[in-house]
Amino acid sequence: MPETTWWKRGIVYQIYPRSFQDSNGDGISDLNGIRQRLDYLAWLGINAIWISPIFPSPMADFGYDVADYCGIDPIFGTLEDFERLIEEAHAKGLKLILDFVPNHTSDQHPWFKESRSSRTNPNRDWYLWRDAKPDGSPPNNWISNFGGPAWEWDEATGQYYYHAFLKEQPDLNWRNSDIRKAMYNALRFWLDRGVDGFRVDVIWHLIKHAEFRDNPHNPAFQTSQAEINRFIQVYSADQPEVHEVVSEMRGVLEEYPERVLIGEIYLPLERLVTYYGKDLSGAHLPFNFQLIQTAWNARTIAALINEYEAALPEGGWPNWVLGNHDQPRIGARIGPQQARVAAMLLLTLRGTPTMYYGDEIGIGKVEIPPEAAQDPWEKNEPGLDLGRDPERTPMHWDGSAQGGFTSGKPWLPLDPHFRSCHVEGLRDDPASILMLYRHLIELRRQHLALSVGGYTQVSAEGDVLAYERQHGSERFLVALNLGHEPHTLPFPAGTKGRVVLSTVPDRSEEPIEAQVVLRADEGLIIALGI
Ligand code: NOJ
Repeated sequence: MPETTWWKRGIVYQIYPRSFQDSNGDGISDLNGIRQRLDYLAWLGINAIWISPIFPSPMADFGYDVADYCGIDPIFGTLEDFERLIEEAHAKGLKLILDFVPNHTSDQHPWFKESRSSRTNPNRDWYLWRDAKPDGSPPNNWISNFGGPAWEWDEATGQYYYHAFLKEQPDLNWRNSDIRKAMYNALRFWLDRGVDGFRVDVIWHLIKHAEFRDNPHNPAFQTSQAEINRFIQVYSADQPEVHEVVSEMRGVLEEYPERVLIGEIYLPLERLVTYYGKDLSGAHLPFNFQLIQTAWNARTIAALINEYEAALPEGGWPNWVLGNHDQPRIGARIGPQQARVAAMLLLTLRGTPTMYYGDEIGIGKVEIPPEAAQDPWEKNEPGLDLGRDPERTPMHWDGSAQGGFTSGKPWLPLDPHFRSCHVEGLRDDPASILMLYRHLIELRRQHLALSVGGYTQVSAEGDVLAYERQHGSERFLVALNLGHEPHTLPFPAGTKGRVVLSTVPDRSEEPIEAQVVLRADEGLIIALGI
């Protein structure tokens, strides 16, 4: 695959479809709302939109419980709205990636209704049904990712079914070839409509151990953690046979030109990179969540970048994710000043960056009062700070009521700072985080060195992380101060440089010689040899 392929050079922008722009006043964003904001996305400069699930769903897990893989939930609009969205996105040069949720369906999916109707139903084997142990208890010790046992008893047919997430999300049996065919046809349904790729939900979960062995206890488990951590997920996910499924999905995408397969995978690096598949026959981009999971520290991040680069299979294309709808926002985690440094890091690393909507306007920590909580995980395991509502609050477009998000009552409260942090206002402020994002994106698009160029670590001492990116004769030094004190970095003797962008504005064009003086919380991109 040449390095000019769109998904290698481009930037992916995730939209949580309930929270971007409401067009009909029901307090929930929709496809027509997203369509109204395409000009903004084109102005921002991103290349591809990934939209979390928009398929018909009872919304027990806000769309990750799919009741029909080939339709649009009326909350979001119609298939015609979708067709209009994709047509207009493409006309503006934007790719569109959908979220595919193959591990489980909704318990309201007709397949599951059939499957649970009797033990002899032809769809029985499409899900994971097992007998109780002789004492009536579940078949093994597997825990749901949202807490509680992962097995639900079905009185009518006298068996348990397995659900890695909510009981309303029964897991499919990916060892069954009929399910594979049905799901691949669902992929083709959207590919035929021009979809440019898929982000595949919990792809490492698809195959479970054939004998459903008990998972081993986790000796490091603490009761302050989510219950799923009680056991180490040795047998419930990441089984060798999953790679066959991933490469089959890849095969379906390859029936069409230039499509991308992205896998959602939370695994340690050495396991994660196996999802590129044998001879790169797996996912194009197994999502790399390391920046989300690693302490915000120059040495740790430098080590992680090196470890990741070294672990990549030959030809495997890197990628970096800074936030998503399941993780605390970067601004909430490291504060507003460092969130700017994080933006520079994300957009100057080698590999495809994925941004999360709202990070570009600096949405920070949003407190959700208990009575406003929506997330089923928060409801299942309250008090452990697991809830994902804070990172799913509506986008702020202007200073009007509800930030221009809706004319009705938003499904989640907005960040109370929305009146001073919205697209319309930040666009007029050259020093804003939004304009920083836009400049970073513009630079990355202009200079191959910053997207597909080589990466060389220059320094990782104290709070400073510095690296060089190069492509042909183009060279940039990226120097990031991850701390709140100024730092000085020696500059290679005989080299000249020029600041092209600072996270703290007002230094552009400044010549650099002998040393780089970084102010507190400052990141710099310096063009070298100029
Ligand atoms: C991962 C998704 O990102 C998350 O939001 C969802 O709850 C689970 N998979 C279950 O589909």
